[in-house]
Amino acid sequence: MDLSLKLMEWNRPVPRYTSYPTAPQFYPLGLSDVLQALKRYDETRRPLSLYIHIPFCRTMCLYCGCFVILNRRPEKRAAYVDLLCREIELTASSFSSKREVTQIHFGGGTPTMLSPEEFDRIFDALHRSFLINGEAEVAIEIDPRTVYEDRGEKLGHLKRVGFNRVSFGVQDLDPLVQEAVRRRQSEEMTVSTFEWARKIGFEGINIDLIYGLPHQTAERFRRTASRIAEMRPDRIAFFSYAKVPWMKTHQKAMPEEAEPSPEEKFRIYVESRSTFQEAGYTAIGMDHFSLPEDPLTKALHNKTLWRNFQGYSLKLAEDLLGLGVSSIGLIDSVFLQNAKSLEEWEREITAGRLPVFRGFVLNEEDKLRRWVIQTLMCHFELDKREFERLFGHRFDIHFASAREALDRLRADGLLEETAEKLLPTEMGRLMIRLIAAAFDAYLKPEGQFSKSI
Ligand SMILES: C[S@@+](CC[C@H](N)C(=O)[O-])C[C@H]1O[C@@H](n2cnc3c(N)ncnc32)[C@H](O)[C@@H]1O
Ligand code: SF4
Repeated sequence: MDLSLKLMEWNRPVPRYTSYPTAPQFYPLGLSDVLQALKRYDETRRPLSLYIHIPFCRTMCLYCGCFVILNRRPEKRAAYVDLLCREIELTASSFSSKREVTQIHFGGGTPTMLSPEEFDRIFDALHRSFLINGEAEVAIEIDPRTVYEDRGEKLGHLKRVGFNRVSFGVQDLDPLVQEAVRRRQSEEMTVSTFEWARKIGFEGINIDLIYGLPHQTAERFRRTASRIAEMRPDRIAFFSYAKVPWMKTHQKAMPEEAEPSPEEKFRIYVESRSTFQEAGYTAIGMDHFSLPEDPLTKALHNKTLWRNFQGYSLKLAEDLLGLGVSSIGLIDSVFLQNAKSLEEWEREITAGRLPVFRGFVLNEEDKLRRWVIQTLMCHFELDKREFERLFGHRFDIHFASAREALDRLRADGLLEETAEKLLPTEMGRLMIRLIAAAFDAYLKPEGQFSKSI
C-alpha cells in the first residue's frame, strides 16, 4: 500500500466528534424545550458539570479556531462578568434547590484576562447558586502571556479561589512558527509560568501544542516535543491544526505555502507521539497524553474516559451546563447552545431570559450512535455484545447501513473486525475520526469540517 496516496485519500473533512450529533446539526430550540430539559434534569438530582466561556483575547493568534472577541477595554470585561453572574443565578433559579457541582471548566478565549476581583465575583455567584463539591475538578485555560508579568501573583489567586487544574497554551516553542501565527511567547515565559504553577501546588497541569502550523516540520518540531516532555506536565494536548478558513477568516492571513504537507503533518504527529510515549506518557484517545498517575490515565484503564467539547476528560457528571456567550451544554440528553453574538446574549440575560438560542434533542437512535462514537474515540475498541446488552439491538443488523464503510476501512487496514468486536488497527487509531464517521447518521460528504490529518 502506498502510504502517501492513502494519506491523501484519508485526509478528508470529518468532524472531531467532541459531540454527537455535531454542532452544525443543532437547530433553533423553543424556550419550552429548554425549560423542560432543565426540569427533567432537576428531578434526577444528578450532579452537574459547568463550562464557563470567557471570550476575550488581547490579540488574535492566526490559527485560532475558538470563539474569541478581541478586547482590551476593562469596562467591557466587567460588564460581561456582571451578566455572567446574572446568568449563573438565573439558570440556577430554574432548579428546585442548589444542585451539586463536581466539575467546572473555564475556557475561552482567555479566561485569565479577568482580574482577581472579577474571579472573586464569579465564584461568589457560583457558591450562592450551587453546592460545589469539595473534591470538584476546577480547571482553567491559561494564556501564559497573561500571567507572566506579575510573576505568579494571579496564578496564586486562581489557586485561592478554588482552581486545581490549569492548562497552558503553548502550541510551539519555535520562534519562526510563533512569528508566522502571530503568537509571540518566549520559552522563558512558558517555562517560568509552568514552574510557578507547580510551586503553587496545582494538582494537574496541562500543556497545549498544535501540529500542522506554518514552518513546522518533523525535524523542527522535535525540539518542542522533547523540551515539553522534559518539563513533565501531567498532560499534553497535542491538537491537529483545525483549518476552517471559511469560518475563521483570520486563518487566511497565515502563509499557506509554509504549512506542512499532510504527509509531513502526519510525520510530526507520529514522531512526537513516540517522544511522549518514550518519556512515559500514555496516549489518550487521538490527541492527549498523560502521566501514569494522572486521573486521565486511570480513567482510560477503568473505562470511564469521556469526550466533550474540551477534548478528553473524566466523566464526573452526566450533565453539563454551559454558561457565557456561545457555550454549549448537555442537559438530560438535550444539547443547549447559548447565543453566539455578544449583543444577543446580553439582551436575553438583561431581559431575564435564558440566552439559549439553539440545540438538539437526542432521540434513542442518536443516543446509541453517540455511545458507539464515544466508545471508539475514547477506547479504540467496540464490544458488539456490550452494545447489545445496553441498547437491545443486534449490532450487525442495526448498523447494516454502515457495512460498506466498515468493509472499506478494513480493506484500507484501518480496522479489524471479529464477530464480537471492532478493533481499530495502529493506523486506524490515528484515523479514528474516519472510523467514527461510519456511525454518523447525519454526515454529508460536502460537510464543512477540518480535515482528518
Ligand atoms: C481556547 S484556547 C485557550 C487558551 C488560551 N487562550 C491560550 O491560547 O493560551 C485552547 C486551545 O485551543 C487550541 N486551538 C485553538 N485553535 C485551534 C485550531 N484551529 N486547531 C487546533 N487547536 C486549536 C490551542 O491549543 C489552544 O491552546
Ligand atoms: S489561541 Fe488562545 S489567545 Fe490565541 S486567539 Fe485563540 S483563544 Fe485567544
